[in-house]
Amino acid sequence: MTSPHIFERFYQGRTKVQHTAGSGLGLALVKKVVEAHGGRIWIESEKGKGATVRFILRLTKPEKVQQQ
Ligand SMILES: Nc1ncnc2c1ncn2[C@@H]1O[C@H](COP(=O)(O)OP(=O)(O)OP(=O)(O)O)[C@@H](O)[C@H]1O
Ligand SMILES: [Mg+2]
Repeated sequence: MTSPHIFERFYQGRTKVQHTAGSGLGLALVKKVVEAHGGRIWIESEKGKGATVRFILRLTKPEKVQQQ
């Protein structure tokens, strides 16, 4: 199961492989950028099968959608 803290700044997961690289900011920044564009982001993961990060972004601005 994915940690609920995965999108928090400076959070780094504990894995069998020593995770020393990075700062724990990558996913937090990605979430900020996606949400600033009106999108959303989430993780899908299954134990032993890896994780997939998915996001959705609008193709048009919300105000344009409302005008139609
Ligand atoms: N591609 C990936 N594969 C496996 N685990 C990942 C992956 N990306 C992120 N994670 C997990 O999520 C945690 C947070 O990721 P995040 O990208 O925010 O930080 P980071 O990769 O540790 O550092 P950086 O700031 O360099 O991106 C990681 O520490 C790791 O546990
Ligand atoms: Mg990263």
